[in-house]
Amino acid sequence: MTMDAIIVSDLRSALIPFLDKTPKGQLFVVVDENTSTKCMPVVAEALGEVAYETIVIPAGESHKTLAAVEQIWNALYNHQATREALLLNVGGGMVTDLGGFAAATYKRGIRYVNIPTSLLAMVDASSGGKTGFNYLGVKNMIGSFAMPEDTLVYLPLLESLPVQEWLSGYAEMLKHGLLKDEAHWTELLALEVDDNECVMSGELLAENIAVKERIVEADPKEKGLRKLLNFGHTVGHAIEEAYHAEGKDVKHGYCVLWGMVAELYLSVVKMGLDKEVLRQMSSVMLAYYGRPECNCKDRERLVEWMMKDKKNRVAGEINFSLLRAIGDGVVDQTVTREELDEAMEYLFSL
Ligand SMILES: NC(=O)c1ccc[n+]([C@@H]2O[C@H](COP(=O)([O-])OP(=O)(O)OC[C@H]3O[C@@H](n4cnc5c(N)ncnc54)[C@H](O)[C@@H]3O)[C@@H](O)[C@H]2O)c1
Ligand SMILES: [Zn+2]
Repeated sequence: MTMDAIIVSDLRSALIPFLDKTPKGQLFVVVDENTSTKCMPVVAEALGEVAYETIVIPAGESHKTLAAVEQIWNALYNHQATREALLLNVGGGMVTDLGGFAAATYKRGIRYVNIPTSLLAMVDASSGGKTGFNYLGVKNMIGSFAMPEDTLVYLPLLESLPVQEWLSGYAEMLKHGLLKDEAHWTELLALEVDDNECVMSGELLAENIAVKERIVEADPKEKGLRKLLNFGHTVGHAIEEAYHAEGKDVKHGYCVLWGMVAELYLSVVKMGLDKEVLRQMSSVMLAYYGRPECNCKDRERLVEWMMKDKKNRVAGEINFSLLRAIGDGVVDQTVTREELDEAMEYLFSL
């Protein structure tokens, strides 16, 4: 078992050590409806003659539910999966979160390996061991910490990724840039996202993935430092919940980007962060992401969502991770309601 995601150049050889340890008939692959057609052919080629059972779950965050977890448990049970079974999660963060949870709980835990297919899953969701699903309308309410045996990042899988999904992942990369240092932040800002993709080198991606890994290694159960990774997510999750409550689709990374704009505003006001960083993030937002479909009238509801978020509530207050400077984040910061309103006003008025 390892924490580090590896960028692999040969998927087949990367899989061999895991396949060798898996008895015949005990290999299962979880995909969603999209990755089953767009990505599975590549993975199937790497698996070659090895037999496996494919479990196809519905795509999209609205299906990150107990029903989908049950579908995986049922398929495992119906195909006589034992505790020696290996689950390969081939998909974005929804598949790696759900498949990871199903693996963590089936017969008290079987091995699983993530093969992330979205940029967001590569840089964020597929490593770090958080698994789970949405419940009673609350994001990731039920879950467990369960490390994958490995996360194999294979760049050719990104070829079919739609541009909005690239942008969703790019937002989490920017968050890592802010947590790391000026050099990485500047390199990320210089990337150009065009109509099809955002071309980046394997080295840049590896450097970005390592930001999360180092933080998770230091604080796997989110007692302190790991909360830095929630930067942008307090406001971001509330926006995401607001969209979902209205039955509207929205990408997680877009919400994180909007959340980061509001939380950078708070960082400027409360922590003395250089305004230039807020300006840079605001221009990225206007260039690529647009504005959230929220306005000042939604503030009350957004604050209610923030209070409900499991990560945010400390003795009745909303808890933020903020930045003093790039590479200098601080956890467990509370802000006044006025400051929060002001930050949301800034975001909605851009
Ligand atoms: N566990 C964690 O630490 C963690 C961290 C961040 C996010 N997450 C979770 O990750 C999820 C978001 O991840 P996501 O953005 O990858 O969502 P996702 O898995 O829903 O993927 C987004 C869309 O892209 C499609 N897709 C994925 N790869 C593709 C490819 N190569 N080609 C074509 N289509 C492809 C999917 O089918 C889906 O329609 C959320 O549920 C979020 O809560 C978890
Ligand atoms: Zn996120």
